[in-house]
Amino acid sequence: KSIAFIGSECYPFVKTGGLGDVMYALPKALVKQNCDVKVILPRYKCIPWKYQEKMVYKGSFQMDLCLDGRAFYVGIMEYVWDGVVYDFIDNEEFFSSGNPYTNLIDDIPKYCFFAKAALAALNYMDWIPDIIHCHDWQAALVPVYLRTMFENTKLTSAKTILTIHNLRFQGIYNIPTIKYWTGLPDYVFNKDVLKVNYNDANMLKGGLAYANIITTVSNTYAGEIQTPYYGETLDAHLRYHAGKLRGIVNGIDYEVWDSATDSRLFANYDVTNVIEKKKENKLNLQEELGLVQDDHKFVIGLISRLTNQKGLDLVNAILPQVMDEHTQVVVLGTGDAEYEDSFRYYENAYKGRVCSNIMYDETRAHKIYAGADALLVPSQFEPCGLTQLTAMHYGTIPIVRETGGLKDTVEPYNMFEDSGNGFTFDRYETGLLLDAINRAKTLYFTERECWDKMVQRDMEKNCSWDNSAKQYKDLYLELAR
Ligand code: ADP
Ligand code: GLC
Repeated sequence: KSIAFIGSECYPFVKTGGLGDVMYALPKALVKQNCDVKVILPRYKCIPWKYQEKMVYKGSFQMDLCLDGRAFYVGIMEYVWDGVVYDFIDNEEFFSSGNPYTNLIDDIPKYCFFAKAALAALNYMDWIPDIIHCHDWQAALVPVYLRTMFENTKLTSAKTILTIHNLRFQGIYNIPTIKYWTGLPDYVFNKDVLKVNYNDANMLKGGLAYANIITTVSNTYAGEIQTPYYGETLDAHLRYHAGKLRGIVNGIDYEVWDSATDSRLFANYDVTNVIEKKKENKLNLQEELGLVQDDHKFVIGLISRLTNQKGLDLVNAILPQVMDEHTQVVVLGTGDAEYEDSFRYYENAYKGRVCSNIMYDETRAHKIYAGADALLVPSQFEPCGLTQLTAMHYGTIPIVRETGGLKDTVEPYNMFEDSGNGFTFDRYETGLLLDAINRAKTLYFTERECWDKMVQRDMEKNCSWDNSAKQYKDLYLELAR
């Protein structure tokens, strides 16, 4: 089967979160299952030169876009790697800012252009996929364009899947502006497709209406988003389309994340020597970060975008109660100023015990996954979450809130059966988070054998893409039939 992936970010070219990881790992896993995959991405100027210089020019053309009749340049630059073909859509006007995302005023036209250019590029290359798999709001107009402006092209034979990685981001702007930038016919601006509020268009909503299948990145999240609390105002729309909505949980890339060969670690390890080698990673991490060097300390990591999605209000509220003299906390993340500042404050208040790395740094992330004892993911909502999977794979015990993919991937520790993968809590409450952390500490300090067994169990748990890629493939086959 042939599949075109369309999305706004992809590791290692450009990544701001888990979407980037998925756009890289899933196509690779599908190629291993004999699928033919092209990944279509914007050619942002911020893509490192070492990749830019390997791209090969595949052609260019002019494309109509907005209502003023202007024609826009669409270039196609190709890069083939590990059996996956990456086609980058080139256009200086839209893709030359320093970050992939800036503000809605720029991002709305950018992704109106990108979605249409991606389809036009497939047409231009005469590569007609069986499936067009779109990701998040930035690619959500693809199914809408396909069933309107591309009706009379060969591409109409393709079936579409729209995957929701995060329902919070929807691409909402006033109707006149979106009409102007897309030239889409009036009838799609009705309340069943794009329209929301009095005069706004919602790009994600339109894509959900037109896609043949909607998926999201865990079963639990697929259910949650049909409720008002998690539905981000689209719950009724999603309930209406529930018949075509599925959940398929993410995996992690076992080549990128392999503690036995990971060159970024202080000491490599596998399940046979994890207990000893983790100490070595911990001691080196403590030294590098200026923490008190002592392998008896309980080190809690937190690797995250610093936004309210991630449950940081809970963390902020209880941190002083977590900070006894046996505990250290290592934060790695960037995001909202309020959280960046509070973590800086805590680093200062608990010198040598809290380290706040307010930065985006892949290498440091690897070292924390290997050197910490536990990883905190107390999210308010979490479509899937990859950090808890990576943590488990590196023998680091997750402490998570039972929501979305966190609930589906972390089985709570059961002291009677000595089973489970981590510590969990359900309601979004400070007391419950604190309790979960304290249960983790208690096991760590008083029943180390049970803790160590859980570390080994987590390392052996299958968090790879194998199962999930198979589920996507079955879905493609079912759709293409
Ligand atoms: P989300 O997509 O909501 O941000 P995920 O858990 O799906 O959450 O994915 C986050 C990804 O980004 C993981 O691969 C994580 O390791 C990585 N990450 C997050 N913050 C940082 C950071 N500051 N430095 C390095 N990697 C980070
Ligand atoms: C989103 C979600 C995260 C998920 C990722 C990849 O950014 O917030 O939970 O793991 O997408 O699907």
